[in-house]
Amino acid sequence: MTEKIHDQRVVVVTGASTGIGRATALLLDELGFHVFAGIRKSEDGDPLGELSSERLEPLLLDVTDEEMVTAAVTRVKAVAPKGLYGLVNNAGLSLNGPLELVDVTAMRQLLDVNVLGVLSVTKAFLPLLRQGRGRIVNVSSGHGLLAIPDKSAYAASKFAVQAISDSLRVELLPFGVQVSSVVVGKVETEVLGKIEASRQKLLASAPPEKVNLYRPLLEYFDADVKDLPSIPAKQAAAVLARALTDTRPKRRYLVGPGARKMSILSHFPAGMRDQMLAKAIYGRVPRA
Ligand SMILES: NC(=O)c1ccc[n+]([C@@H]2O[C@H](COP(=O)([O-])OP(=O)(O)OC[C@H]3O[C@@H](n4cnc5c(N)ncnc54)[C@H](OP(=O)(O)O)[C@@H]3O)[C@@H](O)[C@H]2O)c1
Repeated sequence: MTEKIHDQRVVVVTGASTGIGRATALLLDELGFHVFAGIRKSEDGDPLGELSSERLEPLLLDVTDEEMVTAAVTRVKAVAPKGLYGLVNNAGLSLNGPLELVDVTAMRQLLDVNVLGVLSVTKAFLPLLRQGRGRIVNVSSGHGLLAIPDKSAYAASKFAVQAISDSLRVELLPFGVQVSSVVVGKVETEVLGKIEASRQKLLASAPPEKVNLYRPLLEYFDADVKDLPSIPAKQAAAVLARALTDTRPKRRYLVGPGARKMSILSHFPAGMRDQMLAKAIYGRVPRA
């Protein structure tokens, strides 16, 4: 087996059971990479296997589980004697809602997956990435460029992803390891249903008087998320593949109209942005 894939480019994609990660793993497989598709439940490997070539290998990888991360590195090392060509840090959770209503345990879990997961998986694969002069591609969000209400925890996690990308890009220059972030707007994936379900859970579990305090904000963002233009997961996957294959990868790729809009707004002066957001949400700028 080792001989067979000796000259192939080996990539690891975290969070490949659904959504952008699955689309990316399948596209990279089509492009001829030897793909390790990160999944948390072994049964998620079967549907991937049905849609891919025999090269694609499901890899048990919960990014918050140190032992699993170590075992994943050992497995990849065994079939990639020349090192790793690419690591796509895609696994991620979403969490919306006014801070006062959001569960602290859910926030810890979000930061564990979206931030510590990226750091620990990247750290563990770095020796193989250095050896292969490979690439790291981090999946970020428009909320990693512009922090808006209702998204404090999620925005914190994706700003952190931007920070990790910026920091490592220069840190790893001497080793020829290139780092890109892919800033994603709204993409049609399973996450949209998960966001809706967690919103319902939040509304059901929070005290009604607190929900009422935040009613205008909740209504604004519920309508907003439905109205936002979205793109299919395959389109996001194509940009992730470009980040891995462009001769000179960009520091940052923007995917979809939502990401471009957030990027433009992030350059506005903070005071102007605050006023625009407040007017959009409350119809006026509330007095402090
Ligand atoms: N879709 C969007 O509109 C959008 C917008 C901006 C950014 N993004 C980002 O894009 C990435 C992918 O999102 P998606 O839309 O494709 O969502 P998704 O369909 O919900 O996929 C999330 C993936 O992450 C995995 N995951 C969750 N916790 C994990 C853990 N502890 N260890 C390993 N894997 C874990 C999930 O695995 P399980 O199936 O086992 O839970 C799943 O494979 C995320 O980083 C997200 O923040 C998405």
